[in-house]
Amino acid sequence: MCGIVGYIGKRNIKRWLIDGLRELEYRGYDSAGIAVMKEGEIHAYKAVGKLVNLEEKTKGFEPEGPGAGIGHTRWATHGKPTELNAHPHMGEYSYVVHNGIIENYRQIKEELEAEGVAFLSQTDTEVIVHLFEKMTKTHEEPYAAFKATIARLEGAYAVLLMSKKAPQTIFFARKGSPMIIGKNAGGEIFFASSDAPLIGEATEVAYMEEGTVGYASPEKIYAEPDALQFVPLAGDKLTAQKGGYRFFMEKEIYEQPNVIGDTMIGRVLDEGVAFEELGGDFLEGLTRIKICACGTSYHAALTGSYLFERQAKMAVNVEIASEFRYKEPLLTDDTLFVVISQSGETADTLEALRMAKAAGLKTLAICNVDNSSIVRMADATILTRAGIEKGVASTKAFATQVMVLWMLSLFFAQKRGTINAEGARREVEAMDRVPTVLKEALTVHEKCKRLSKRYLHGHGFFFIGRDIFFPLALEGALKLKEISYLHAEGYPAGEMKHGPIALADAELFTVALMPQTLLYDKIKSNVEELSARDSTILAISPLPFDLADDFVLTHAHDHPMLEFFEMMVVEQLLAMEVSIRLGNDVDMPRNLAKSVTVE
Ligand code: G6P
Repeated sequence: MCGIVGYIGKRNIKRWLIDGLRELEYRGYDSAGIAVMKEGEIHAYKAVGKLVNLEEKTKGFEPEGPGAGIGHTRWATHGKPTELNAHPHMGEYSYVVHNGIIENYRQIKEELEAEGVAFLSQTDTEVIVHLFEKMTKTHEEPYAAFKATIARLEGAYAVLLMSKKAPQTIFFARKGSPMIIGKNAGGEIFFASSDAPLIGEATEVAYMEEGTVGYASPEKIYAEPDALQFVPLAGDKLTAQKGGYRFFMEKEIYEQPNVIGDTMIGRVLDEGVAFEELGGDFLEGLTRIKICACGTSYHAALTGSYLFERQAKMAVNVEIASEFRYKEPLLTDDTLFVVISQSGETADTLEALRMAKAAGLKTLAICNVDNSSIVRMADATILTRAGIEKGVASTKAFATQVMVLWMLSLFFAQKRGTINAEGARREVEAMDRVPTVLKEALTVHEKCKRLSKRYLHGHGFFFIGRDIFFPLALEGALKLKEISYLHAEGYPAGEMKHGPIALADAELFTVALMPQTLLYDKIKSNVEELSARDSTILAISPLPFDLADDFVLTHAHDHPMLEFFEMMVVEQLLAMEVSIRLGNDVDMPRNLAKSVTVE
């Protein structure tokens, strides 16, 4: 989704803006642009497509500071991905970049057009800059004009605006879309939609609160209604780079053994699980759980539903956030409302959370980004600690979400007395083995690479599994379709006979998740039915299976969750290798965005 950067200082402003935008590429975009203000002039450049096109356009433009600049990567919502629709949008003497949606833009646009303002783009954003310039006619101070502009906007926005009327100043506002401001001892000031461009640059950052409006110049940073709370920013550039891997997705798959260890630290203890984020009486009065999420996080949620019901004996209901928000849901106050989100900014999930809060439910967020909008809104949060995930196809974030849900189900089971000490000890022993299992799973990478050449065509893929391996099948299919653009669906294996099996023939590839610890015989007979109809079978299992055309042999484990994590890695590697062979952009697949901050 759109990314914003801003800079005030003395370096080559263009370089910093483009480098900063590169750090935000993972969010997904289809055009980009920058505006640089120096010695009273503003120079703007835009290009459709990747940042190299913008670099090409700005060749020869090397603005050393002092000055200020704003930059933007756009993921089209209102209007096609054209150069005219790319940000920054300009008025007569001002430029704006924006992330979010201005819901009342039509009304403002009509008003301004009636007054003779000509619009160049089809975007909602352009109204901001023209409205600002109109306001400067009635407000002497540019900041007062900016405030009056923001007061007129409805919807979601993170906005940076520069104007010749205010040299070396950037005006900012945030509501519903994230924005961070950073600074360092050298007097430089930075803005960005997420931490990534600021790591190694700013030493202190402030995560803007909802409703923040303000301005920054070399002399002063001012924000209202509340002053910005700066906190130290840890980390170095290396953590945010590829570290020798071909793709961020590959790096992130290989990071899983380590990050899952981080997820467990201080939480998985000898006798059970502890969450210091949740008070002793957290479950008081709660008997049900409702989980809302989107995409991969929704698959993690479905996995969690099996675990909560089995271990903690709590009724669980999982809903896709975009459906939940418009269905007039029945919410009862004995329900714990859980949202799962990697980014913490997904608009649909955020809205679902808002509705649950308004209904008075206790809310819990499972999230990877501290200080994100979802984290700030929820009553309690469990951070998944996966580190920055840049590949649009989520891998380590999913692994850590599932790990948190497994731990949480044990935590609830202990609190509710639905598991005995021996049972809890067995779970903990299995949890302790997850990092090793994830590491061992990587040994099949070569095998997946070789297999991938046989799966570049066909009329579709079925990923099938049962119980927790059903959501894993959904996730395997999603991974493949996201980055290979091949048609893939996940199904509960027992459901094939009720329709999907009609598609079976030799060009229909079935990826069968066949764990030995859970319903092996049942899934085996489902796969046999597909094989009898000539579907090409890729079996993933620790047990040999004669009818498979292809086979990935997994390790024998005595706990379903360990088989789950190993098979998850196989699915990730397979999807990635297919995508590489097809020559696709693994980290930034077409049409997708990492963080979807619009409905
Ligand atoms: C986008 C991403 C998916 C992600 C989904 C939910 O569609 O491309 O990878 O699963 O949003 O995102 P969240 O940040 O809420 O987990």
